[in-house]
Amino acid sequence: MEIIKDIHEMTEAACRIRSMGLKSSLVPTMGYLHEGHLCLVRLAKKISDRVIVSIFVNPAQFGPNEDLAKYPRDIERDISLLEAERVDALFYPEAKAMYPAGFQTFINVEALSGTMCGASRPGHFRGVATVVAKLFNIVQPDTAVFGEKDFQQLAIIRRMVEDLNMPIKVIGHPIVREKDGLAMSSRNVYLNSNERKTATVLFESLELARTLIKQDEHGADRIRDAVKRHILSRPGTKIDYIFIGDTETLKPVKTIKDRGIIALAVLVGSTRLIDNIILGPV
Ligand code: PAJ
Repeated sequence: MEIIKDIHEMTEAACRIRSMGLKSSLVPTMGYLHEGHLCLVRLAKKISDRVIVSIFVNPAQFGPNEDLAKYPRDIERDISLLEAERVDALFYPEAKAMYPAGFQTFINVEALSGTMCGASRPGHFRGVATVVAKLFNIVQPDTAVFGEKDFQQLAIIRRMVEDLNMPIKVIGHPIVREKDGLAMSSRNVYLNSNERKTATVLFESLELARTLIKQDEHGADRIRDAVKRHILSRPGTKIDYIFIGDTETLKPVKTIKDRGIIALAVLVGSTRLIDNIILGPV
């Protein structure tokens, strides 16, 4: 696996791939890789000739009181995991190269960034859209793979690619879960053993919502109340949001039947976890 830190070197490597007539995929990550990331990499391998993974803990998407400094990192382990997957190139730039002095251009995907995580993390998706656009320009992949765990992020990237005519196909991968249902996340390492047990409440409450819908309860308010009660029955939880809405516009709905998204952000101790389920086609 080629390990590339330099932006121009990355673009040159991408041009070489293109000039050989090969199709490439990019899997953008912030590292501290887990099985969820590796599933994205495997999907990328299936659909393209060359796979490039980026690891960059992007300062622009962290708020002033968020976990940028303590975000988990283990580049040596990440490199061996990616080598085992036979990834072709790792792009691992430094923050001062991605955001040199004088940097001032940002991408704002407006309405889609205003709800859900965007409401509680102002500026977060501006940072995400900007860094992903930069990565797309540097790597120029034919395809980029993102996880549905960050469903709002995926919707925002899809919108950006369409709005800005980026010639890139964006593919979503279903959420990869631990055996007990907890969505895999680099941030799960922050949980102590009690919190780790409590964290299963996110998926449980989404399953509860699914069951209620199957039992013909379609009122979003009533489903939200049931989900809320279930989450708060576990000590040490605090709800950031319970969102029931449309998968495309990410606007809230009053009733949900066979299409839509139920998404949660819950603090377990001081760790903020997100999860969702999607009803109907994505
Ligand atoms: P990160 O949290 O490292 O996630 C990288 C990619 O892996 C994202 O597309 C995310 O949705 C996906 N992913 C994480 N956990 C997953 C799981 N359990 N199942 C399926 N996919 C999962 O998301 C980011 O980084 C950043 O915002 C980034 C897009 C790299 C921009 O900085």
